[in-house]
Amino acid sequence: MWLNESSTVSRRHFLRATTLAAAGLAVGDGAATRTAAAVTPAGADLFRVPKLARVRAAFIGVGARGSGHLEQMMTLEGVDVTAIADNHPPALNAAVACVVQSGRPRPAAYGDGDYAYRKMLERDDVDLVIIATPWEWHTRMCVDALQAGKHAFTEVPAAITLEECWDLVKTQAKTQRHCMMLENCNYGREELFCLNLVRLGLLGELLHGEAAYIHDLRSQMHEVNHGTGSWRTWHYAKRNGNLYPTHGLGPVAQYMDINRGDRFDHLSSIGSPALGRELFAKKNFPPEHKWNQIKLWNCGDMNTTIIKTARGRTIMVQWDETSPRPYSRHNLIQGTQGTFAGFPNRLACEGLTAATHEWTEGARLEEIMKKYEHPLFVKMGELAQQGGGHGGMDWLMLWRLVYCLRNGEPLDQDVYDAAAWSAVGPLSAQSVARRGAAVDVPDFTRGRWQVRPPLRIVS
Ligand SMILES: NC(=O)c1ccc[n+]([C@@H]2O[C@H](COP(=O)([O-])OP(=O)(O)OC[C@H]3O[C@@H](n4cnc5c(N)ncnc54)[C@H](O)[C@@H]3O)[C@@H](O)[C@H]2O)c1
Repeated sequence: MWLNESSTVSRRHFLRATTLAAAGLAVGDGAATRTAAAVTPAGADLFRVPKLARVRAAFIGVGARGSGHLEQMMTLEGVDVTAIADNHPPALNAAVACVVQSGRPRPAAYGDGDYAYRKMLERDDVDLVIIATPWEWHTRMCVDALQAGKHAFTEVPAAITLEECWDLVKTQAKTQRHCMMLENCNYGREELFCLNLVRLGLLGELLHGEAAYIHDLRSQMHEVNHGTGSWRTWHYAKRNGNLYPTHGLGPVAQYMDINRGDRFDHLSSIGSPALGRELFAKKNFPPEHKWNQIKLWNCGDMNTTIIKTARGRTIMVQWDETSPRPYSRHNLIQGTQGTFAGFPNRLACEGLTAATHEWTEGARLEEIMKKYEHPLFVKMGELAQQGGGHGGMDWLMLWRLVYCLRNGEPLDQDVYDAAAWSAVGPLSAQSVARRGAAVDVPDFTRGRWQVRPPLRIVS
């Protein structure tokens, strides 16, 4: 299952998704009820708000990613799209047209400058805001949305400085609204399967995890004036660390009950030489082009960060969006009784596989996966795959968050997860700058990680 950063949801995909909606999308209520027993019973110390009969959604940023969220949200029962903000008129107009073409009322549009979204936040017909803008905007927009009384859902990473991580935590506490980072990889079939294995105790006591986001995204540099490459390229030039840690790390953090029984304690990080972007610029753009005017590309092409948790477990998190190398999120989780590794899927587990000194793969692994499939995927997997978005995980994430809001349930990821998973970005940069020295990870829960209940997706 690949995360294709640069692709928008295709028209074919959108038609299929709207067909689901037109068919009444049985996912809405029927399946929601069926799933309820299997997913997240109420936790004693988890944040929730009263049920929303309908969810009135607004969007900030409807480029490559945000337009996909918009299309998928429109397939979900009980969702209204009331307003959209984007400071790039073609993106804004296309998004408004997309809503109108689906037969829904025309949403209010806000496109007049970088802060037009603030006007949108004054509306009283908006319950939640989905933010899919460049990284440097995420926290500011979340904080503004929370302060305006809206629930804030932001793309990854939620924050790019430690100060921003704390801003999110403090503002959520003050405003008592949901603040969640949209880490879709936690809803992949393999990741949910691993979570199920872990919750069933089949891997034993957890010891070690490996996570990554390795994805050759150099071609985004062709988006020079608008689009992902136009802003993301500057991050590779100016910063040096693990700039995009959460896709691989989010699932491993949930396996390990991070912020709910364990927490990230400290980390060390090192980076490789920074060569690939400069080479790519030289090969693909004329000497006077702005990418060739960048004097120093700071960010090591491959970053390797290791994290130690309070309970002594270890996690390796790698990041490389620059090298010619096949896609991987690693997704390895190792316990005293077994190990699962992704990309490609492999399992060695006492009691489940014939041997533990070699991997079980292919058809035999598929049998095991079917047997221990996560209940959420059993109930919703087929619809998720039809709903689409990186193999269905995007749709499943959005379905699940709408379900939680409409049922007054705590969310699967909360502001502490957004802060702790995103903090690996700035903390890895601190460590890289100090030759890999260990850096403490703040306890964003302020001690509550010890009493917060584990995420109990599996009943
Ligand atoms: N989870 C995933 O699988 C996944 C995949 C792709 C992208 N992303 C994330 O989604 C986010 C957006 O990425 P993208 O590829 O869609 O980028 P993009 O450049 O295509 O889209 C960003 C949009 O935000 C708009 N924007 C920028 N500043 C704004 C402002 N002040 N007010 C209103 N609109 C503003 C831009 O005009 C643009 O339309 C990033 O954080 C990226 O990392 C996540």
